[in-house]
This record gives sequence, C-alpha cells and structure tokens, in this order.
Amino acid sequence: MRAYRAAILRFAEDQAPIYDSDGLLVTATDASGRSVVKAVGGYHSLIDGLAGVPVQDLRGYLIAPGFVDLHLHYPQVDVIGAPADGLLPWLEKYTFPQESRFFDEAHALEVAGFFLDELQRHGVTTALAFATSHSASVHAIFEQALQRGLRFITGKVLQDRHSPDGVRDETEQSLIDTEALIQRWHGVDRLGYAITPRFAPTSTPEQLRGAGELAAKYPQVWIQSHVAENRDEVRWAAELFPQSRSYLGVYADHGLLRERAIYAHCLHLDAADRVLMGETGAAAAVCPTSNLFLGSGFFDFSAADAAGMRYGLASDVGGGTSFSPFHTMLAAYCVGREGHTKTGLSLKPGQLWWQHTAGAAQALGLGVVIGNLQPGHEADFVVLDPQATPLLARKASQASSLDELLFAMIVLGDDRVVVRSVVAGR
Ligand code: GUN
Ligand code: FE
Repeated sequence: MRAYRAAILRFAEDQAPIYDSDGLLVTATDASGRSVVKAVGGYHSLIDGLAGVPVQDLRGYLIAPGFVDLHLHYPQVDVIGAPADGLLPWLEKYTFPQESRFFDEAHALEVAGFFLDELQRHGVTTALAFATSHSASVHAIFEQALQRGLRFITGKVLQDRHSPDGVRDETEQSLIDTEALIQRWHGVDRLGYAITPRFAPTSTPEQLRGAGELAAKYPQVWIQSHVAENRDEVRWAAELFPQSRSYLGVYADHGLLRERAIYAHCLHLDAADRVLMGETGAAAAVCPTSNLFLGSGFFDFSAADAAGMRYGLASDVGGGTSFSPFHTMLAAYCVGREGHTKTGLSLKPGQLWWQHTAGAAQALGLGVVIGNLQPGHEADFVVLDPQATPLLARKASQASSLDELLFAMIVLGDDRVVVRSVVAGR
C-alpha cells in the first residue's frame, strides 16, 4: 500500500466533481496484480487506519484522474500545424505522405516512443489512437505502450480505396491482418484493439462489411472511425453510399454502431443520427482544437445532450493542435459558447474536466476501470501544480470556489502544470 497527501479531485456518479482540499489517496495491489485505488477522502478521516503505510506529502499540488484522450493519430505527430484548405486537401497533401512511412517498424517505433512520452508529459494516461494501414505501425505502438504499462487502445487503419499508393490496403488481406492483430494484442496486459476503418469514403462496402463482421465476432474489441467532420466529406460519403439514409447510416448499415464504437467529430449530424448514436451506445469523440484548426465546424453539445448521445473530449492530433488536455478543454468551452450556428452554452469547468476523464472512460465502456479515483479504479493519476506559472499562481490564489480553481487551470494550464503522471501506480 501507498498513500499520497494532496488536494484530490474525483467525480461522483452524477458527474459532479468531489474535492478534498486536504485529501489522501491510498493505492494498493489487488488480487490480479493491478495497482488500484484502495481508499480516498479527507486526510484526517483516513490516516488513523493506515499505520505503517508510507505517505508521500504532496501538499500544494492537486491529484486528479489521468486524462483520457478519446481520439488521436500517433503517426500524425509530424503533421501538427500543417495548413490546408480543409480536411480533404490536408489528408492528400500532408497526412497520407507522412503515414506512408509507417511500413518501416524502426520509424514507427521511434515515433511511437516520442508520442507516448508526449502523452504522459501532458497527463494523458489512456488514449484511443489510430495507427496507420501497416501492421508494423500497430506492433510498434503496442510494444511501446506495453513497456510503459499503459492502458492503450489502437488498431490498423482500413482504407482500401480513394487512397494513394503507400497507404491503400487490400480488402481481404486487411481483414485477415485485423483479425491476426486482435488475436495477438487485444487483452494483453492493459492493451486493447480497435477495428479502425479510416472513414466511409476510403473503404469499399466489402471492407466495411468485413469490419462489421469482426466487430460482431469480437464484441469486447473497440471500433473507431470518423464521421461528419466536414461538408465536402459529407457530400462525398452521400455520393458513394446513396442507399444509406445518412453518413452515420453507412456505419449503421455495416454493423459498425454499437457499445465501444467511438466516432470522431459528429459535427454535421441530424436529429435522427444523434438519436441513433444514443440508442446504439456508440459515442462521439469531440475534437475542438482540430475542428477549429481545419475549419470543420462546431460540436453541438446541447443537441447531443437532448438526444442522449454519449461523448468525451479528444485532441485529434495531428488535425488537432495540442496534446494538452487543458488546451482541449479550453477549446471545448469556446466551441460550446459559439452560438451562431447552434445553441451557445457555457460548459462548467467540472463538466469539461469530467468529459476528458470519467466521461471519456464511460464512452469507452471503461467507466469502472479508469478515468476516476474512486475505490477500485486503476491507479492512473496526475499530480498538478496550480502554481506552475506566475499568472496561474495569481489566478489560483484568488479562486474562491472549486469551479474557479478548475477554470483557472483550464484556461491558463498546459504541460507546465503536470508535475507527474502516475501509470498503474508507477
Ligand atoms: N478523416 C479521415 N481521416 C482523417 C484524419 O486522419 N484526420 C481527421 N481529422 N479526419 C479524418
Ligand atoms: Fe482523427
């Protein structure tokens, strides 16, 4: 057993933040060898029962659940900040050429290592990430994640048409490779596999059907893709799949909407699409820095809530511009405020934080496993310094409520705030 004394943030079942200004987090190894939260609460209410347990004194810092990034692309580290006239030119000009290099496992290993270090430096302890269409890219990042003890989910991209040489795969082989990767990696230590059709326009109906069959055969495996990010993309999907009711309907028609299916963006959905997301248990990865950078649009939080659609926050690096969950939460706030194309609202600081931790974990079907610091949750957490910069220290010292403290960190925070990321108690 081990204990940490600091301010502690966690979440109640109703999503409300719970804050102990002088808290204690106690971790222990459970029967299966996982490092988990054993107890949490006020320091004085817990310390008497803990004779002999070493206590690290982290007063002045805030311990919070490790952040969960619901959608990003590890092979796009070197694509961040590439300017283009929107999504489709950006893919052609920058993204596909970079991704074509990942047939080479040495290159993939180097980028994967850098990427995972960057996630941890920013306080992200779990991610659902795209690899590339090359199996080597999947092996590389799983090997690196395994070494670090991370809970990490990825998959080989499926894209058998409308893709250049170097990234386009072959229908039948792509499905054989996907199943082999599921059998090799899904459930190894803390790793999980995601069936990963890039997006409907770059897959044949046969490839999507095969992906749906694998999704039915392996219900514990995740699904990840993109939907309704950009108007040109939506038009293209409609031309290619005229028999489907909508772009989201293409995925429904191929057996790709279910629990553990995460769709990035979900900007240009209609009311029936949002209801379908809610009914099937699929969830949206909301990617505000990417949507602003590529000029894609604004996620409609109030329409999503009204339809009972699940969602969480994501960076979408390299369409997204930052690994920092603080930058993503701030961008989500700004996107929420936007009230010219949809209803504008002010997301509460605790809500934004929940959407990037416990809410994202729930979207993955891992709500009782990660994303929170209640007893039984895996011991993935961050130690944050509210004094990390002069301006943040000034704002934080004036905070008269938890909302004000969290909002100061959301608006002014970045990797300088993250003192330490603890993964599986290490
Ligand atoms: N749609 C299809 N591929 C991609 C991608 O790599 N990034 C983003 N943002 N959208 C996509
Ligand atoms: Fe993406």
